[in-house]
Amino acid sequence: MKKQKLELEPSLIGGDLGNAIETARKAVAAGTNILHLDVMDGLFVPNFTIGPDIIGRIRENVPEHFRLDAHLMIYSPENFIEKFVKCGCEEITFHIEATEEVRYTIDYIKKCNRYAGLALKPETPVELVLPYLKDLDKVLIMTVEPGFGGQEFLSEMLNKVKILASYKKKYNLDFDIQVDGGINYETGLMSVKAGATRLVCGSFFYKQKDLKATADKFHSFEGEAL
Ligand code: DX5
Ligand code: ZN
Repeated sequence: MKKQKLELEPSLIGGDLGNAIETARKAVAAGTNILHLDVMDGLFVPNFTIGPDIIGRIRENVPEHFRLDAHLMIYSPENFIEKFVKCGCEEITFHIEATEEVRYTIDYIKKCNRYAGLALKPETPVELVLPYLKDLDKVLIMTVEPGFGGQEFLSEMLNKVKILASYKKKYNLDFDIQVDGGINYETGLMSVKAGATRLVCGSFFYKQKDLKATADKFHSFEGEAL
């Protein structure tokens, strides 16, 4: 397993969605490198958020080096990849439960030169992603039920993180392991110790007074893959 850099990804919906550009700029000013963008269709999850138009507006208003990571909680993501490429997402993650075209969708994202991620709901066994690990840039382990911010971290999910970390080691792979939901200093550190290299943090991050100090603290965590 290669040494990787830990990234904190502020999640847009944890801040003020009505001022999405301002919320994104706060993540930039805090010194983070990636913004997590939750896209929901009201069917795959019982909620709605933003789509390519708003993401495009964010892209125009943040520096080029700042990456946009779309977490698609939508059915048939393969039909929409092009839209998320065009609006400026550097990273696109979709759910394994949302399509029968998993291999095709990964290949499509990679063909567009984007970072490809596969996400799992809490009830989905981690074994289902193993056949795709070689081709993935990232696996997203949901540590809450997808659909809403502000929920409590499901610590049983750390076992999935550990299983993925052991595969990385065994096969010398370097995909990122991302955790999403209920992340704060305590659950973030637990995740990093288990092998996570990406921490998505919504409500906890945007609630803090000093966002730069918050990002610095998360980035100082040390763990298995770092
Ligand atoms: C939930 C989303 C998360 C959400 C996390 O479906 O995938 O990205 O923003 O929010 P917090 O950090 O508040 O749990
Ligand atoms: Zn998310």
